[in-house]
Amino acid sequence: MQAATAYAHPNIALVKYWGKSNDELNIPATPSLAITLGDLRTTSHIEESASEVVVLDGERVTDVKLERWLELLRKQYDLPPLHVESSSDFPANSGLASSASGFAALTVAISSAFDLRLSLQEQCEWARRGSGSAARSLHGGFVALEPEKTLCTVSQVLGENEWDLSIVIAITSDRAKTTGSTAGMTASRDTSPFYDGWLRATVEAYELALVATRSKDFEALVRIAEGSCRQMHALMLSTEPALIYWNAATLNCIETVTCMREAGIKVFYTIDAGSHLKAICQKGDAMNVSDQLRQVDGVHSVLVSSIGGPAGIVR
Ligand code: PMV
Repeated sequence: MQAATAYAHPNIALVKYWGKSNDELNIPATPSLAITLGDLRTTSHIEESASEVVVLDGERVTDVKLERWLELLRKQYDLPPLHVESSSDFPANSGLASSASGFAALTVAISSAFDLRLSLQEQCEWARRGSGSAARSLHGGFVALEPEKTLCTVSQVLGENEWDLSIVIAITSDRAKTTGSTAGMTASRDTSPFYDGWLRATVEAYELALVATRSKDFEALVRIAEGSCRQMHALMLSTEPALIYWNAATLNCIETVTCMREAGIKVFYTIDAGSHLKAICQKGDAMNVSDQLRQVDGVHSVLVSSIGGPAGIVR
């Protein structure tokens, strides 16, 4: 093998996935549509080692999700113990999709280091086995993930340079999220009376989002994406025990985005399994949107990103 370093960008879903149809194969229960964040990245380096070592953001850790994933890979490929070093230039483990970019980068690094010659679709499959949304971080632009019985199809709907949008991220907490997505999804499926409705609504939203994205219909995306976000959080709130990812600052940001839109700015919000709010807007409005979100009560800082490209190797 040859040591390899790869990078991937996190992605945020406009039509969310929350729930799996097959836990063992990690198949999402619904399709989803996401955008790749070009100005945020995770870099993963791997090399052969006497024993397995995992270093995340400079700290040696025991990462059960990663260990299980490596175990799975070793059922198919003869991999030696590895030294894995992964770091993100944005807050990890707080609903900013660091596990998505992490598994995507690691898949690319391993595929290159061991010359596995995996197709893009095969890389998506391996990344997805680590983290459902990770498959979407292999591609750039607007990325669709469609689950089938035992695998998923991942495809680019719009390239990274085809629609000049920006993503403004309001950081509203410095704490790691309390419930991870896998445990949270299982709890929602097992306890929420809204789960079946969520699945139906998401399939419909996904079809509409594909049409809206292809025709770059911003107004339609506003309704679909904010609807999908609120429906996912309604599902989370109706889970037993409740999954409450928002904090007061998240609600303040929602109000600010809504006010900006009422004032004529083209902007909408989405929020994942964490308290940070992501505002999607026209590139020309990004400064204005970030200035306004920075002033919101409870916002620690603001990041701005363009839509990004695919994962790749660091040469
Ligand atoms: O990639 P996972 O399995 O950790 O799930 C991610 C789930 C959300 O980020 C909340 C929604 C999504 O579709 O990305």
